[in-house]
Order: sequence, then structure tokens, then C-alpha cells
Amino acid sequence: MRRLPPVLIEDGCSRELVSLIRTILAACKEISFRVGQGALSGVLGSTLDENIQGETQKKLDVLSNQLLKDILLESGYVKAIASEEEDYTVAGNPKANYIVAFDPLDGSSNTDINSLVGTIFSIMEAPEGSDPSDPAIFMQPGHKQVAAGYVLYGPSTMLALSTGKGTRLFTLDKTHGSFLLTQDFAAIPEDTKEFAINASNQRHWTPAMQNYIADLLEGETGPRGKNFNMRWIAAMVGDVHRVLCRGGLFTYPEDRKDPNKPFKLRLLYEANPMAMLIEQAGGIAHTGRERILDIQPEEIHQRVGVILGSKHEVEACLTYHK
Ligand code: AHG
Ligand code: MN
Ligand code: MN
Ligand code: MN
Repeated sequence: MRRLPPVLIEDGCSRELVSLIRTILAACKEISFRVGQGALSGVLGSTLDENIQGETQKKLDVLSNQLLKDILLESGYVKAIASEEEDYTVAGNPKANYIVAFDPLDGSSNTDINSLVGTIFSIMEAPEGSDPSDPAIFMQPGHKQVAAGYVLYGPSTMLALSTGKGTRLFTLDKTHGSFLLTQDFAAIPEDTKEFAINASNQRHWTPAMQNYIADLLEGETGPRGKNFNMRWIAAMVGDVHRVLCRGGLFTYPEDRKDPNKPFKLRLLYEANPMAMLIEQAGGIAHTGRERILDIQPEEIHQRVGVILGSKHEVEACLTYHK
């Protein structure tokens, strides 16, 4: 089986980009080890702190963030970083060419129940002559990402990665510490009978989403003419991984629970990297109004509605949003 670095070099990635990706993965291997040790490494449970978005931080959120931040800044390969767990962007090496936005630990609510969690990352080029301490460096639409990926800490630790030439899946060989290519090109089936949504928010959804889901639930005698199955992992990495493996529609849509917070998922380090992985595997990633990768960001912790997955099913969902 092929190791990650030669695959990236063959794809024409710069040496610096390959080194940057390997640096991120070095931190992820350490996170994978700590997650795997669970209660034995004393990392379960919450801290007394909140992040800037008002979420209580788990010990693993803080630890994963610190590992990624320290390793990336020490490496010299990043000009700046943005993280879910950092209030502001952090400046790195002014001479570096890349910037990284990351969700150090996605699926925090799963940490204490030994369930799926992961790390999501997005890599872009730093605009020429840009100031490393200026957050404007990150205000680029997702189609400018040069690489995006996640590492899923599950029964096996897996990496999904795209550098714009398809989406590939690697599995961490824990005996040697290398990520080995286990699926060369993920291809999401265009049709599906599976969807993922947190149904407890149903009364807060927009009429468009209410109608779409109601039609799915009617099954084969309803307007969609087939029976759908539902899944919800409560970690976007887990749900998106399932979609990459066997198709499906995943959504965390706009809702009206809190008028000041109509969306849950964050554009820079959740929606954008996942959108790139999904599109590169033949799927669609949309907000209901526009393609996720075309959104011009205005703020590093900006949130968006997300509807992604199997091409024909996302298209069906979007017809309700016209
Ligand atoms: P995070 O743990 O990084 O804050 O992200 C959690 C997100 C996402 O992973 C998941 O799809 C969603 O929150 C789950 O939300 P609910 O708890 O509302 O189901
Ligand atoms: Mn969080
Ligand atoms: Mn997350
Ligand atoms: Mn997180």
C-alpha cells in the first residue's frame, strides 16, 4: 500500500505543502493516541472555560487545539492559523506561504461516550504581501482551498484528503505510524435512501426544510416514492465520512431556535473543507441559497447552513428551497 507523501508529490503538490500536511498529521497522530487512551490519559470531561462561541470546552478540545497550534507554529510552514478554539487568528512565520483553519476536535459531545470524533482542516495560500496578524488573510472563498481534509478517530484512524485531484482515503497503520492509501478515489453514489439531520430541531426549521423532510418520511407511497433511512452521529466528521463511503444527504440547516444564531456549523473550518472533499468525490455542498465554496467569508467564526452529499438527493432538497 502506498504512503501519503509520494501520493502528494505525484499530484504535483509543492514540497512546502507536503511538509505542512505532514505536520498537521503529526499532531493528529498524537490526538489519535490520546483519544484512544480515553480515561487512561485523563483527557475526558470538560474544562471550566468557554470558547468565543459560547460552547463549554472539553479537555480534549483544548488539548487538541494546543497540539495543532504548537506543532504548526513551531514548524515554520504556516503564515497564520485560525481555530474553533482560538478567539482570534494567530500569526506564524511571515515568510510562509500557507494558512490553515482547523476544527481541532469535531464532535466534542462524543468524547465522554467513546464515540466518533475527528479533526478537520483547510489549507489556503496566503495572499502575497499579506500581514500574518491580519485576519483578512482568511477572508477567501472555499474554492481557493489548496487542500482540505479530516482525520477521523474511530475504530481505525482514517484521513480523508483532497488537494483538488479527487478525494482519497488513508488509514493510519498504528504499528508504523504512517497513513496508507486505502481508497484512491472516493465516489459518492448520486442516489441515496439515507439522510442525516438532528430531528429534534424540526419545529425550528424553515418551511422548505420541513416540507422536504416530511416528504422523505412519507416513504414509498409519498411523493419521493422510496423509503428512507436516517442516521445521526452528532459529529460532522462521522456523518460526512459515511456520506463519502456510501452516499447520503447530510444537513445542519438554517433554523429559528435562536434568532441571533440561525446556523450551527462554521464556514472556515467545518463547511468549507467538507464541501471540498464532497465536491471532489462527485457530491454537492450547498447552503440552500448558494454553493458553499463560493461564499465570501466576513468573519473567522462565521456560521452557515449546510446541505451536502449525493448529487441527486441534494438537488431534490434544493428544489424545495427555490
Ligand atoms: P464541535 O464539536 O466541533 O463544536 O462541532 C459539533 C457540530 C458537528 O460536528 C455536529 O454535526 C453538530 O455539531 C452536532 O450538533 P447537535 O449536538 O445539535 O446534534
Ligand atoms: Mn465546539
Ligand atoms: Mn466541529
Ligand atoms: Mn470542535
